[in-house]
Amino acid sequence: MSVTVFNPRINDAALDSTVSAQVNTGAIKKVFIATQGCQMNVYDSDKMLDVLGDSHGMQVTHDIDEADVLLMNTCSIREKAQEKVFSELGRWRKLKEKRPDLVIGVGGCVASQEGDNIQKRAPYVDMVFGPQTLHRLPELYDQTSEQRDIAPKNRIGTIDISFPSIEKFDFLPEPRVEGYKAFVSIMEGCSKYCSFCVVPYTRGEELSRPLDDVLAEIDSLAAQGVREINLLGQNVNGYRGEKDDGSICRFAELLHYVSHVDGVERIRYTTSHPLEFTDDIIDAYAQLPELVSHLHLPVQSGSNAILAAMKRNHTIDVYINQINKLQAIRPDIHLSSDFIIGFPGETDEDFQQTLQLAKDLNFDHSYSFIYSKRPGTPAAELPDDVSFTTKKARLAEFQKVIIDSTLQKSHDMVGTTARVLVEQVANRHPDCLIGTADNTRTVMFPYNPEQMDELLGKIVSVRITDFVSPHMVKGELEAILS
Ligand code: SAH
Ligand code: F3S
Repeated sequence: MSVTVFNPRINDAALDSTVSAQVNTGAIKKVFIATQGCQMNVYDSDKMLDVLGDSHGMQVTHDIDEADVLLMNTCSIREKAQEKVFSELGRWRKLKEKRPDLVIGVGGCVASQEGDNIQKRAPYVDMVFGPQTLHRLPELYDQTSEQRDIAPKNRIGTIDISFPSIEKFDFLPEPRVEGYKAFVSIMEGCSKYCSFCVVPYTRGEELSRPLDDVLAEIDSLAAQGVREINLLGQNVNGYRGEKDDGSICRFAELLHYVSHVDGVERIRYTTSHPLEFTDDIIDAYAQLPELVSHLHLPVQSGSNAILAAMKRNHTIDVYINQINKLQAIRPDIHLSSDFIIGFPGETDEDFQQTLQLAKDLNFDHSYSFIYSKRPGTPAAELPDDVSFTTKKARLAEFQKVIIDSTLQKSHDMVGTTARVLVEQVANRHPDCLIGTADNTRTVMFPYNPEQMDELLGKIVSVRITDFVSPHMVKGELEAILS
């Protein structure tokens, strides 16, 4: 059995933890999967389960003790998580000691960075695969089984962490749907090379799926009842998908195509970069009612000096200008962003500018993180004279501003009408249905059980009457819109 290590790039990793999984009866194998990190990983985990289900009839289990295959889909965006990968693997090792037939696979960005180091450090790991090779999991699984048959005591493990262009999508089974919302990956990787970020190294450069592939997937999802599509990628507005005639479809044009798919009532996208947030995308907000009035546009910092050091390649004025233009078209637009606090060299003045930007733009919600040094990235070489105590204090001050504005926005919804995609009966309030508003708030409202089938999966208007929690409000059904 040959082992090929295609991309043993950076050394280091990270993660946070979420778990999902699958089951087996008799000869059917069961898979348990632990997913760390971003939405891209959640998407990839679903696809891993799909390919193993399709090729080997494997089923998901949420009970690790009954699983035959354990998969860990890892994240390396921040440092903290890396050791969690190995501590979790340590627990899995004990399971394997009891059940030597257990197959353990590690995928995602830590796998991509660490390559064969994973098996050096954790020799009981059978398969290592990257975000772009998850479709080869069935092959890796077969190779693992083969090795066991041929040389059970001399196993070396199978590794594939290459970046084989965009072929992954050609090997994924038809999307399966639960509910009314679905993510559709439109591109892989990132070519922006922000100085702090590992993504270009772990997921490779930007590669867009051809337009027809994306639309075929959305057609299929819509035919299965999906009403809201979330276009997924590290920088969706860098989309450059090939069309049938060989020309290139940019992101704004893609939005138009998606809006024409029968059944699609709502379009979101995750994530975009200010550098390519072009006027044609802003104009789409005037033309396409399907585009929700919510934009997640990471800015990272309110200081031009820090933005330059981060290699974001735009200034704060450019960002504010884009927001102003959008607000002129969609006055009700809700904004959210990502911020990095305590980037190397961040002065108190830089931080005050970030704080001021958050106050001025009054974000609906935002994600903020203390800068985490990632080996192999340019920022890791920068002198960093800001103490961790200062960084923590800045983060706390910053998050207070963000949380206050999230709270205020939810209170401000009372008395307004929200457009809600109705998704299910509320778990803890069976007399109510719940759904999501444009700004991602969960909205709960009482309903007449006889009307349930008519309401589920519909876009309705709800008059908001009560604040429930920062991310949840309550209201009364006004009308079914579509
Ligand atoms: N493609 C997205 C970001 C993907 S990473 C974009 O254009 O912004 C998600 C978020 O993680 C980033 O927006 C950033 O805020 C954060 N992040 C990335 N690298 C980080 C690091 N080294 N330290 C702290 N936060 C980081
Ligand atoms: Fe990372 Fe910057 Fe790309 S944050 S994902 S390198 S846009």
